[in-house]
Amino acid sequence: MKRIITFGTFDVFHVGHINILERAAQYGDHLTVGVSSDALNFSKKGRYPIYPESDRCKIIRSLKFVNEVFVEESLEFKKKYIEKCNADILIMGDDWAGRFDWVNEICQVIYLPRTPSISTTEIIEVVKSIK
Ligand code: CTP
Repeated sequence: MKRIITFGTFDVFHVGHINILERAAQYGDHLTVGVSSDALNFSKKGRYPIYPESDRCKIIRSLKFVNEVFVEESLEFKKKYIEKCNADILIMGDDWAGRFDWVNEICQVIYLPRTPSISTTEIIEVVKSIK
């Protein structure tokens, strides 16, 4: 049995999020998703998510190809999370390419191509620009 883990904010849930989670699940038999806490997102992106972490977790937990969800409190605990869930493979979008190679000592790391032309940031910008 192969266990997969992935991480992300998954704010203003969109099809790019579905695509990466669906593809990640196909690499194994069990998919765990670490959802960035509101505070972690603020430290990474300089803004709080539109949807609070409890709602973002609820959305991700409802997907049929996701088996487990937890709140990721800090980027520093990456290894601890991977070990705790016994992951064989860490999957990330290729906007993170190379940045998790150090995790290779404890599990395989695979970067998947992002879905083109969609992101949470872009959706927020489009909505803001509607008059
Ligand atoms: N992702 C993807 N394709 C997209 C957007 C996101 O594959 N078009 C992936 C990211 O690579 C990451 C996961 O979805 O592995 C969660 O990304 P997240 O940062 O939450 O979503 P973004 O839409 O990239 O958000 P933002 O614009 O705020 O950076």
